[in-house]
Amino acid sequence: MGNARVVGVPAKSRLNAVPATVTDRKVTVYIMGKAHEVPAEATIMGAIEYAGHQIIRGAGCREGYCGACATIYRLPGDYKIRTGLACTTLVVDGMTLAQFPSIPAEKPVYDIEQLQPNVSAIQQTFPSVFRCVACNTCTRSCPQDIQVMDYVQAAKRGDIAAVKDLSFYCVSCGLCMLRCPAEITQPLVAMLAKRLYGRHLRKESAELTERVQAVESGAYDARYAELMSMSKEALSERYFARDIE
Ligand code: FES
Repeated sequence: MGNARVVGVPAKSRLNAVPATVTDRKVTVYIMGKAHEVPAEATIMGAIEYAGHQIIRGAGCREGYCGACATIYRLPGDYKIRTGLACTTLVVDGMTLAQFPSIPAEKPVYDIEQLQPNVSAIQQTFPSVFRCVACNTCTRSCPQDIQVMDYVQAAKRGDIAAVKDLSFYCVSCGLCMLRCPAEITQPLVAMLAKRLYGRHLRKESAELTERVQAVESGAYDARYAELMSMSKEALSERYFARDIE
């Protein structure tokens, strides 16, 4: 039995991917062990709220970007523990749900200036990476369809640019590290690689330099002042009317 999910695409496309026709059809999902009838087109997050629960942790952007809504679930007649983001995974009849609003992880403290963009940085900060047994559970757990194991292997080789590229769509939901038998903290390794890349490997960007100079010279001051003077409603209207890349 499959399930629908919307991953790795811009917000507009995600919204377009939600079924255009909303029916009265209901399905049964199990939330904290209790059966609830919910709309068949609901996301897991929508179903939890429809069932009367208030989500006070484990929700942020509601569009698949912030990674706050890590969920595991089972489907009837299926032995697999499945993973997903509650805000972009649609319900399936008979689904049994559990939410993980926070997945604890050891967070090493490092000075990015003192690290070099090579394997020694990984060895110093995340020695757990070298415990990887290449089981691929991380990749199979990823709701963004990221090749997580591949970037862990790249980290073992010290290929910082490859880690950065392969982990680009990571939303740090933590589901990979929740399932990892070697207890690697993959999203934090990816974050280190991005920081190393940004600090030591990134080429100078003429466009960025130009934009920073424009900001510093006050080119946007009038527009900022206008935004600061607007009401919440007007700001909201402006926000939702914007062009989304
Ligand atoms: S609430 Fe942000 S990814 Fe689901």
